Amino acid sequence: ESPKHHTEDKLQKICHLLDQEIPHFNWTGFYFKNGDKDELILGPYVGAETDHKIIPFGKGICGQVAVSGETFVVPDVHLQDNYLSCSIDTKAEIVVPIFKNGENIGQIDIDSHSVDPFTDDDREMLEWLCKEVSEIL
Ligand code: SME
Repeated sequence: ESPKHHTEDKLQKICHLLDQEIPHFNWTGFYFKNGDKDELILGPYVGAETDHKIIPFGKGICGQVAVSGETFVVPDVHLQDNYLSCSIDTKAEIVVPIFKNGENIGQIDIDSHSVDPFTDDDREMLEWLCKEVSEIL
C-alpha cells in the first residue's frame, strides 16, 4: 500500500488528465468516506472551489451514491430535488462509486457545463477507472 501522499498525487493527476482530455468534464473530483462517519469528505479535485467539502450520506447526488452504491447519471441537475449546487455553471453530473473489498468507500464526481453531455462510453470509462483506482487505495 502506497503512502497517503503518493495516492493523493495519483488521484490529483487523474483529475487533471480527465479535465484536460474531456471537454465536457468541467469539475472532476474524488470524495471518500470520512473515517467511521456517515459522510463524504472531498479529496483531490480540479475545478472551481466548492463549499461541499463534507457531504452527509443521503444528501445530494454524491450522498445518494454513497448509500446506493450505483452510478448516478444526472443529465439535467435542475430536475433533481436532492441536489447540492456547487456552481451555477453546472448543468449535469455523473457520480460513480468506488468499492474496496466490497465496501462503497468513495466516488468520482464529474460536473459538466452542458446539459445531457455524458455518453455510455463516459460511464463505462469512469466505472473502469474506479476499479483501477480501487487497486491503489
Ligand atoms: N453536486 C454534488 C455536490 C458536489 S459538487 O458537484 C462538487 C451533489 O449534489 O452531491
